[in-house]
Amino acid sequence: MAQRLKACTGCHGAQGRAGADGYYPRLAGKPEGYLYNQLLNIRDGRRHYAPMRALLEPLNDAYLLEIARYFSRLEVPYPAPAAPGVDAKQLLRGRQLATVGDPALELPACAQCHGKALTGAQPHVPGLLGLPRDYLNAQLGGWRTRQRQAHAPDCMAHVAGRLQPQDVAAVTHWLASQPVPQQGKPQASLTPWPAGSKTLRCGSAYPPAAAAPAPAVNDAQVRQGAYLARIGNCASCHTAPQGAPYAGQRGIETPFGVVYSSNITSDVGSGIGAWSADDFWQAMHHGRSRDGRLLSPAFPYTSFSRMPRADTDALLAYLKTVPPVVQPNRAHALRWPLGTQPALALWRSLYFTPQEFVPDSGQSAQWNRGAYLVQGPGHCGECHTPRNVLGAMTGDALSGAVMPVTNWLAPSLRDSKAAGVAGDQEVATARLLRTGLAPHAQAQGPMAEVVQGGTQYLSDADIDAMLVYLGSLVLPTHASPSQAPQPTVRSSAAAKLYQQHCAECHGDQGEGVAGAYPALAGSRAVQSAQANNLIYSVLRGGFAPVTAGNPRPYGMPPFLLTLSDAQVAQVLTHVRQSWGNQASAVDAQQVTLARNRMGR
Ligand code: HEC
Ligand code: HEC
Ligand code: HEC
Ligand code: HEC
Ligand code: HEC
Repeated sequence: MAQRLKACTGCHGAQGRAGADGYYPRLAGKPEGYLYNQLLNIRDGRRHYAPMRALLEPLNDAYLLEIARYFSRLEVPYPAPAAPGVDAKQLLRGRQLATVGDPALELPACAQCHGKALTGAQPHVPGLLGLPRDYLNAQLGGWRTRQRQAHAPDCMAHVAGRLQPQDVAAVTHWLASQPVPQQGKPQASLTPWPAGSKTLRCGSAYPPAAAAPAPAVNDAQVRQGAYLARIGNCASCHTAPQGAPYAGQRGIETPFGVVYSSNITSDVGSGIGAWSADDFWQAMHHGRSRDGRLLSPAFPYTSFSRMPRADTDALLAYLKTVPPVVQPNRAHALRWPLGTQPALALWRSLYFTPQEFVPDSGQSAQWNRGAYLVQGPGHCGECHTPRNVLGAMTGDALSGAVMPVTNWLAPSLRDSKAAGVAGDQEVATARLLRTGLAPHAQAQGPMAEVVQGGTQYLSDADIDAMLVYLGSLVLPTHASPSQAPQPTVRSSAAAKLYQQHCAECHGDQGEGVAGAYPALAGSRAVQSAQANNLIYSVLRGGFAPVTAGNPRPYGMPPFLLTLSDAQVAQVLTHVRQSWGNQASAVDAQQVTLARNRMGR
């Protein structure tokens, strides 16, 4: 675990003992349930810290629980307390709040919940000693401004809301000046609330409820629909952060504004519970809602249109088994006139013809199955095919594209130097689609979501079929003059940056560590003509997505706070031009651009 979680200890200090400057909190020895709740809170947006959220996004609850357990079991000494910087009167007030409370303000003692010794209480209340005063102030301030929220009922929102500014100062001064007794071990259980009053319960998602076993589905049509919903990754676009599955309202940013996905649960009023198979076919095949409204192509009906009626019927049969959620659809926020029905009608007349998939009789059944999955439900071209300024896929199918808004590069699936599946790359690509991790590649960013929600669930036969089709698209490579060796600019400053920040994981010669850290020497992605994804890798860090085949991925720390744009450019240029790698230099402006696009 220590090796896997180096992505965390860069900020949180060796063994999670806290960062040097008091900003990065200690993790070691805190109650497991508390750490687990925080990881969920940060990933799911109840507590805001963007660099960590990006890291945690591809991780599931089971892995987060393991991570919490790992840090909670580490025993490392606490730092000496700070000298109190205030007068005795204030300290007395601080101690009173911490150990007795203030009935006039309806404030229980901090010790009531945080343990008699203020070292926390199992399973999910953290200690308050051994933490820097700045950190304590920031957290109490976070609750007051709702930057930080806990699982309901959120006791701390109540507590922080009642503390006056001078009381916050008093209690954090006092807490930060206390030594940490009993090595900071949390007490075994919560203190019972004084007799006569009701038990105080604070919210927690710990221990996690055991996942209910998936109900056995006897209906073959529903099973087929569930499988197609996986391939189409319907849940990923139709589920909002913290929202119920398929209830919609996930915002999808397009160059023309934000489009919100629809509620496709079985609710009769706000979902599609009352839809007939014809209504559903009209949406999937023709891109028209039940009421006749033209739908935005942010819903990839441009691809789903290829599905035959039997498949859309199966999808509907499955969606009718999704528990109903009452949630009306949210209006899109598109710039006028782009969201209007006349504008959509015009766009469709130019770029959309409803069309079922037509098998190519000159090809094998396997090839045709693969072509159908890629072009239809898998909608791979929605990201991998170039688009024009009006957002229509007009370039060569799957020839690679820079995605609008986020600027991620979805590489060409027709070029063996990009991501094309030629020759012995088949095995690696199959592993990538199934597990998110291949010997020389891992799924990242938007592709991580595709693997996590979709392709990991495909049958072996379907993966093979897709590879047969993709393999047939690869264009013959000819030694092009543009591939002549680039002039290599050796910079000792860049080599030093690499040694200092990267070599520990990626190796002195960019050789990586099999199964953990990708090799940078000889890597296709590293030598990509456009460096967009590499810049994101370094700024954001990241984990490969958690999948059944790769349940505990290794992580890379984000460098957005540690390296300047010029340094990121330098170190990437070094990586792209060392150990036999030959690719163009990266300049600082590209990094600045990527930084500005992040978080979108
Ligand atoms: C870029 C620096 C950075 C990285 C990398 C990072 N963290 Fe954090 N982490 C922070 C900061 C800053 C906070 C406090 C945020 C706040 O003030 O709410 C935090 C808060 C936390 C908390 C809540 C602690 C508490 O006592 O409330 C946990 C748990 C945590 N991080 C775990 C992790 C794990 C696990 C990883 C690796 C997967 C990680 N962090 C990676 C900076 C980082
Ligand atoms: C009614 C119970 C209760 C009382 C009383 C209470 N707390 Fe808390 N406190 C909690 C819980 C539960 C959490 C964990 C919240 C979460 O999961 O994010 C918490 C978390 C905190 C944290 C975050 C610690 C960290 O590592 O990030 C701080 C700081 C804190 N409390 C300060 C106080 C202070 C100061 C007082 C007294 C003035 C106090 N609390 C009183 C229940 C309580
Ligand atoms: C890339 C994101 C994305 C994916 C993947 C996606 N959808 Fe959607 N879907 C949307 C958006 C956005 C809308 C809303 C379009 C509008 O209102 O103009 C939508 C609308 C719909 C509608 C129309 C609902 C209504 O009230 O008119 C149906 C039905 C639908 N999706 C079904 C599906 C199914 C089934 C799948 C999987 C096979 C799927 N979607 C996959 C984004 C997506
Ligand atoms: C939502 C956008 C999106 C969709 C849909 C999508 N991809 Fe990707 N794909 C990307 C991006 C971005 C990358 C580059 C990041 C990476 O390498 O993981 C990528 C990378 C890849 C790679 C190269 C991975 C590597 O590092 O060598 C392959 C192979 C691939 N996609 C195949 C597919 C197939 C097959 C489908 C359809 C089932 C598909 N993609 C659907 C966005 C997408
Ligand atoms: C703690 C270990 C660690 C450190 C330090 C580290 N990396 Fe990584 N790196 C990883 C892991 C793990 C991945 C795979 C992450 C993923 O799947 O998102 C990765 C992925 C990458 C990738 C993407 C490779 C690909 O095939 O798409 C690049 C580029 C990269 N790292 C460069 C760097 C550079 C440059 C540095 C130094 C500034 C660095 N890394 C420091 C662990 C590390």
